[in-house]
Amino acid sequence: MSRLKNKVAVITGGNSGIGLGIAQEFKNEGAKGVIVGRNQKALDSAVAQLGDNFIAINADVTNVADLGRVFKETFEKFGKIDVVVANAGAGTVGTVANLGEAEFDKTIDLNLKSVYFTVHKALPYINDGGSIILIGSNAAHRAYPNFTLYGAAKAAVIFLAKGFSSDLLDRKIRANVITPGTTDTPAFEKFVPAEQIEGIKKHFASEMPIGRIGQPSDIGKTAVFLASDDSSFLLGAEILVDGGMTYLSK
Ligand SMILES: NC(=O)c1ccc[n+]([C@@H]2O[C@H](COP(=O)([O-])OP(=O)(O)OC[C@H]3O[C@@H](n4cnc5c(N)ncnc54)[C@H](OP(=O)(O)O)[C@@H]3O)[C@@H](O)[C@H]2O)c1
Repeated sequence: MSRLKNKVAVITGGNSGIGLGIAQEFKNEGAKGVIVGRNQKALDSAVAQLGDNFIAINADVTNVADLGRVFKETFEKFGKIDVVVANAGAGTVGTVANLGEAEFDKTIDLNLKSVYFTVHKALPYINDGGSIILIGSNAAHRAYPNFTLYGAAKAAVIFLAKGFSSDLLDRKIRANVITPGTTDTPAFEKFVPAEQIEGIKKHFASEMPIGRIGQPSDIGKTAVFLASDDSSFLLGAEILVDGGMTYLSK
C-alpha cells in the first residue's frame, strides 16, 4: 500500500493513542515524518515501533516557540512538509460550577490555542496543496456530563477546519477534521482507576450503536484518506468516526 508514498507528515501527540494510530497507518501507506510529544520515553517507544522513516521531536504544543521549532526542524530534516495532523489534546473533567480560570486557560490552551498555532507555525513550511487534519471530539456535538469546556474547545476546532480552508484557498491547502467517538487509548488511564478500565470499556462498547469502541487504527485509516489525493474535493469537512454514537440512538 502506498497511498502516501514519500509524503512527509507531522503528527502532534504521535507517541500515544490516536496519534500513534495515525502515524502507524501513515507508515503503512509509505509516509515518513515526525511525531511530537513531551514524554521522551513514549516518543522513543513509538519511534521504535514506527521504524527508520519517523523521528521524534520533544515539544509542548501549548508553547508557540516549541511549535516553530518543530516545523523548522522537520523541514531541515526532510526538505518539505505535506501533511500536518493537529491531534494532541486531552479532556478536562468538571462543570461550570467547579472549573475556574486556571482550568479554563489550560483546557483552551491545549485543545484550541495549540491547534491554531500548530497550523500558524506550519504555514511557512507546508507545501501548497498540502493537507491539514484536525482532531475534534463527539463531545463537541452532545453535552456529556462534565465535558462542557472540552466540548466547547473541540466545537471551535471543528470550525477551524472551515476557517483554515477558507484562509488558505489561494495555496490550495485543505483543512478537514476527524471527530472520534470513544476510542481505546491510554487517555482512559487519566480518568479511570486501573482496576476499573476494562469494565468501563465494556460498558461504553455496550452503549455504542456498532457494538464496540473505536480503535486508533479506525481514526488512522480515515486520516490516510484525508492526507491522500483521494480526498482532494474535501475542504472544511468533518468526518465522524464514532461507531454511530453521536447521532444514532440505540
Ligand atoms: N480517546 C477518545 O475517546 C477520544 C475521543 C474523541 C477525541 N479524542 C481526541 O483525540 C486526541 C488524542 O487523544 P488520545 O485519546 O489518543 O489520548 P492520549 O493517548 O492520552 O494521547 C494524547 C497525546 O497528546 C499529547 N499531548 C498532550 N498534551 C501535550 C502537550 N502540551 N504538548 C505536546 N503533546 C501533548 C500526548 O503526548 P505527551 O503526553 O508525551 O505530551 C499524547 O501523545 C485528543 O485531541 C483527544 O481530545 C479522543
